[in-house]
Amino acid sequence: MRIIRTKDYAEASAVAAEIMAAQIILKPDSVIGLATGSTPVGMYAELVKKNQAGLDFSSVTTVNLDEYVGLAPEHEQSYRRFMNENLFDHVNIKPENTHLPDGMAADPEAECVRYEALIKSLGGIDMQLLGIGHNGHIGFNEPSDHFVLDTNCISLTERTIEANSRFFASRDEVPRRALSMGIRTIMNAGRILLLITSREKAEILKKAVCGPVTPAVPASILQLHKDVTLVADAEALSAL
Ligand code: GLP
Repeated sequence: MRIIRTKDYAEASAVAAEIMAAQIILKPDSVIGLATGSTPVGMYAELVKKNQAGLDFSSVTTVNLDEYVGLAPEHEQSYRRFMNENLFDHVNIKPENTHLPDGMAADPEAECVRYEALIKSLGGIDMQLLGIGHNGHIGFNEPSDHFVLDTNCISLTERTIEANSRFFASRDEVPRRALSMGIRTIMNAGRILLLITSREKAEILKKAVCGPVTPAVPASILQLHKDVTLVADAEALSAL
């Protein structure tokens, strides 16, 4: 794992955007795995600037990690809306080349199978962006006694519901389930760009990077991936 230490969030966002841009320049038809959450917002803003300066998204395909079950694309907190507002609406990517699991699918299990097959049909993911949850989740793969391999329907833990309630009017409105790429789906990506900032992630980052590989800390499996670049600010790295 390469670790790039930045002084703050702004620098981490810029560095991560440079890495993503390099991937797109080297392979214009890259399949990029994308993530949501507050952490990548600054990176997406940097990518929008790069697009205005000539970075071409016209041949890029994206697949997002996850989506809440029961939220329509236009819902304020759906990840589809997040992606449209933070990236897709502002760059020259073809809307039909942007993919997320369908949180409104009548049959979530069948939707997971469809999404996994879609990723395979695209030839897999060239570069996957990841953040980390406070409990070590990646995508929405929550701590467990085993690694869930493929795209699956997950019951969110109380910790995640609590953490994500800041985006909703009340805790009750946070969906209890989500569709997420599985651990193997993520680990099959050619490259992983892990972006982690802020002091509140310091302890879990230490566990993920230095602790045992265990499904109790899903991000710890990244220690086994051959090409991970961790971009983290000084605060996030403060426990290492
Ligand atoms: C959500 C997403 C994750 C993300 C995590 C951390 O749960 N499913 O992909 O990494 O939030 O979000 P934040 O960056 O806001 O801390």
